[in-house]
Amino acid sequence: MAKLFSPITFKGMTLKNRIVMSPMCMYSSKKQDGKLTPFHMTHYISRAVGGVGLVILEATAVEQAGRISAQDLGIWDEEQVQGYKELVEQIHVYGAKAGIQLAHAGRKAQDEEITYAPSPLSFNEKFKVPTELTTSGINRIVEAFGNGARRAQESGFDMVEIHAAHGYLINQFLSPLSNHRTDAYGGSRENRFRFLKEITEIVKNEFDGPVFVRISADEYHKDGNTMDDFVYITSKLKEMDIDLIDCSTGGVVPAKINVYPGYQVKHCETIKGATGMPTGAVGLITSGIQAEEILQNDRANLIFIGRSLLKNPYWAKQAADELAFPLNAPNQYTRGWN
Ligand SMILES: Cc1cc2nc3c(=O)[nH]c(=O)nc-3n(C[C@H](O)[C@H](O)[C@H](O)COP(=O)(O)O)c2cc1C
Repeated sequence: MAKLFSPITFKGMTLKNRIVMSPMCMYSSKKQDGKLTPFHMTHYISRAVGGVGLVILEATAVEQAGRISAQDLGIWDEEQVQGYKELVEQIHVYGAKAGIQLAHAGRKAQDEEITYAPSPLSFNEKFKVPTELTTSGINRIVEAFGNGARRAQESGFDMVEIHAAHGYLINQFLSPLSNHRTDAYGGSRENRFRFLKEITEIVKNEFDGPVFVRISADEYHKDGNTMDDFVYITSKLKEMDIDLIDCSTGGVVPAKINVYPGYQVKHCETIKGATGMPTGAVGLITSGIQAEEILQNDRANLIFIGRSLLKNPYWAKQAADELAFPLNAPNQYTRGWN
């Protein structure tokens, strides 16, 4: 039995397999109103038809100023909910579960006049110098995450993922490279974790279901957070009943990253070993055999697939063939698959 095609349960959400569509921004909300378009419907439903166990929607802004680009999806307004309801319903028709990544870009909001961050430090010379958040600004954004989580529940999503990676706002608070505050939200790692802690609390209050957190478990900088810090962050999130850590890397400061097959899996394995927290592996995992090795060796519990699913919505079928697993075809496709 291929472990990749074995079910797994998180707080009442049972995934039929371990394949997750990794959140990927499509920059396609063309009217700049944060709403889904026919493209998004086709794009996400196709991957459900293609057999993934969990479809996680792209980074979705909890407030307008938190969009990475003006074409990002949003969940800051009640009017955005109806589209998500329709999408979730269709994803369910094809036997997949649906999740959404709640995000705030902070200093990396590229199209905003005013950007916000823990400290007035730009990412690089191409980005604006952000406005340092006041305590009331911090409270406003924490609440926006809570409202986003409530709307995710109203939309029928099975899970939410908090985006604390890739140098976006939460990551900016976590990292000593971008957080130079001297108040309760900066300085020690306990203080730098406070923003994520408050967001986790409010999201868990507003969303009844599994909550994952994506972190960047390597900042590729000698003065950045260390593995000891990521183990600390994960242990704290485990105490707060977070269900899984999705281990990505990078993005908090410009860096050259050595990319190779499975380049982030080692972080995932270390964090899982040190904390006992379930983890998701991501990053250049392209074959079923590679995914199976990661799962069978207990290096991760879920496999997140990004670009390979952009190339091939039927990646699950390709992986099943490699593992000689008899994957059921969607009803309409039986004559082609079997
Ligand atoms: C077009 C594109 C958009 C992405 N957008 C997001 C995003 O919204 N949120 C996120 O956490 N990661 C995002 N990522 C990163 C992917 O989720 C994934 O972690 C990364 O591509 C590595 O996995 P892969 O090698 O399977 O593609 C994006 C990647 C791509 C290629």
